[in-house]
Amino acid sequence: MKEFKDKVAVITGAASGIGRGLARKCIQEGMKVVLADIETIALEQTKTELTANNGNVLAVQTDVSKESNINELAQKTLNKYGAVHLLFNNAGVSVRSPIWEMTQSDWQWIMGVNLWSIIYGLKVFVPIMMKQNFNCHIVNTASIAGLSSTPVISYAMTKHGVVGLTEALYLQLKQIDAKIKVSLLCPGLIKSRIFESARNRPADLQNESTTEIVIPQQQAIMEKFLKMRETAMTPEEYAEKVFSAISEDRFYVLSEDKYMENVEQRMKIISDGKVPEISKHYP
Ligand code: NAI
Repeated sequence: MKEFKDKVAVITGAASGIGRGLARKCIQEGMKVVLADIETIALEQTKTELTANNGNVLAVQTDVSKESNINELAQKTLNKYGAVHLLFNNAGVSVRSPIWEMTQSDWQWIMGVNLWSIIYGLKVFVPIMMKQNFNCHIVNTASIAGLSSTPVISYAMTKHGVVGLTEALYLQLKQIDAKIKVSLLCPGLIKSRIFESARNRPADLQNESTTEIVIPQQQAIMEKFLKMRETAMTPEEYAEKVFSAISEDRFYVLSEDKYMENVEQRMKIISDGKVPEISKHYP
């Protein structure tokens, strides 16, 4: 997709961080934008900001882990704008507990937001895009964690899942020569509120204790992450890279070249028959 003006973008997780950065870029490009997020106040604030910048915006409160909500999102998009050209399956959360401390609710929450959301997004929007029969683009947000080796079990697992899912999606759509292109976002650290994900955890998936159980080694890593976040790439800078990738039909969209070393390190370990090591660019 090279022309964005007047086209329709749907963005999940649009009220903060990377999603909001993408929404701002869509508005700059003259697109009509559907903002989907679970966090009502932030969603309204984002809508107000973009509308003040002459944006044509629809905000839909959405829990992406629920198929019924994704169906409603699609319906409201079509009712308002009559089409969808660009879909960002972007919403995500993180849970840092080790496997032996993960509760059923932890799994349900992270699998719902990071993985089922994308499955539902594709189930609902791909048939719509196929029926439209014009050029469209789907952008799924994984993480560099989906291409590297990291010890945060549930996050790594869901993000490796998004990578596998999106590569297969690309291949399937290519097999049938569909007019739907695909990109996979694998950013490293971006300045956002991902480490405060618990703010949006639904009441029915809360643990008895709201204190996340984290091993000291992981806590130390988190403290480094929080320091590094202060000077990390902004969502707006990353959104520029994402739009270049969409207009050039590129699939893998990393945020900085250095993260390619994580990928090379992992591949080398696999081809040498060695055991996993924590990736180089992980604090
Ligand atoms: P963020 O926390 O700033 O934004 C995430 C948005 O998703 C929030 O607005 C939140 O309300 C929304 N959300 C959470 N649960 C939801 C649900 N059930 N339904 C609808 N919306 C929901 O975090 P960030 O970093 O912008 O996250 C966006 C994506 O980027 C995620 O998939 C994350 O895993 C991924 N990512 C982020 C990185 C970073 O360093 N910030 C690095 C790699 C990947």
